Amino acid sequence: MGSCACRWPSLAGGSFWEIVDTAMQAKSRAKILIADDDPMVRGAVAKMLAVFGHEVIATASGEEALGKLTPDFDLVILDINMPGLDGFETMQRINRQDYGIPVIFLTGAGSMEYAVKAVNLGAYDFITKPISDIEQFHITINRAVEKRMYVLQERTYKEDLERQVREQTSELAEKNRLLQEYSHNLEVTTLDTMLTLQTALEEKDIYTAGHTARVSHYAVDIAQAMGLPPFEVEVLERACQVHDIGKLVIDISYISKPGPLSDEEWAMMRKHPIIGENIIKPLSFMSRELFIVRHHHERFDGKGYPDGLGGDELDIATRIITVADSYDAMTSKRSYRESMSVEQALVEMNRCAGSQFDPEVVKVFSEMIKGRISGGRQQEASA
Ligand SMILES: [Fe+2]
Repeated sequence: MGSCACRWPSLAGGSFWEIVDTAMQAKSRAKILIADDDPMVRGAVAKMLAVFGHEVIATASGEEALGKLTPDFDLVILDINMPGLDGFETMQRINRQDYGIPVIFLTGAGSMEYAVKAVNLGAYDFITKPISDIEQFHITINRAVEKRMYVLQERTYKEDLERQVREQTSELAEKNRLLQEYSHNLEVTTLDTMLTLQTALEEKDIYTAGHTARVSHYAVDIAQAMGLPPFEVEVLERACQVHDIGKLVIDISYISKPGPLSDEEWAMMRKHPIIGENIIKPLSFMSRELFIVRHHHERFDGKGYPDGLGGDELDIATRIITVADSYDAMTSKRSYRESMSVEQALVEMNRCAGSQFDPEVVKVFSEMIKGRISGGRQQEASA
């Protein structure tokens, strides 16, 4: 129960009016919630705080105080011994609201145990009744209110900072998205341009028309059948689309002449992978494709060109493109020879598995082509 043995100083005292004067000059009017079951104490404290210039809401219990508590209060003053919720329980519930409102305990029971408990709960101060030193009481109230102002300022600052960070992060994410979109569009446009050039080159020669598209198609199918990750498949597809871009630079008009190429013509032809690599080297987004373009005429046994790499020195994407590229060359007509049938090409591919080609890639590719032939026949039969 709250103390009723109060000795409240007379409001007519000279020093008190000095305090009142100071209070009247205070910049802010605080909103203070009081809970004390003793009407006399409650009334006296409320009157003093009102004279200090504050807005006061006085309640007779912890429950009532909690019912009136809103985030716009600047200070809560709690009696400790009250019926129902005592001051400590009331403060525990106030803490759960996380409003950051300072709490001052005002009690007639000024034991050390109470003081420790109040501090442990995070109370701002602990004042024993009766209040004999009005000046000190006023200072304590003002400091508590100031603390509340700091807490609010800090919260506002933190919220502003968080909002700014959120806005800047969102702005940055949007810029990044636009940059990525721009970069992607630039990549697509560059690749399209190169593909158009290569297709134009192929179209000049009826024997090579459609070669790039077919090689890309075969290679992607093999890569997917072998379970390569989507990113690797994309790299392989882009490499296929530019694998013969080097032929744009060298004069290969002799390619359509009847009969086999001379040693000199072959030597010229064998330069196209390196030239192709040099063409795409300035394109940073195609760094992964460089290796495939340079080595698409290597052999599994290391007897290919330009560097004679073989086996594990060639990555799986390069081993796939050599199979796709050679198969299309075998099944396409040349000026100096007829094209092989699909069956003949598969026999040749399997004969060269382990020497020119990676046997595993040939196996997957052969099964794929055979499956398509068999599927085609079944469709024809059911038509
Ligand atoms: Fe080539």
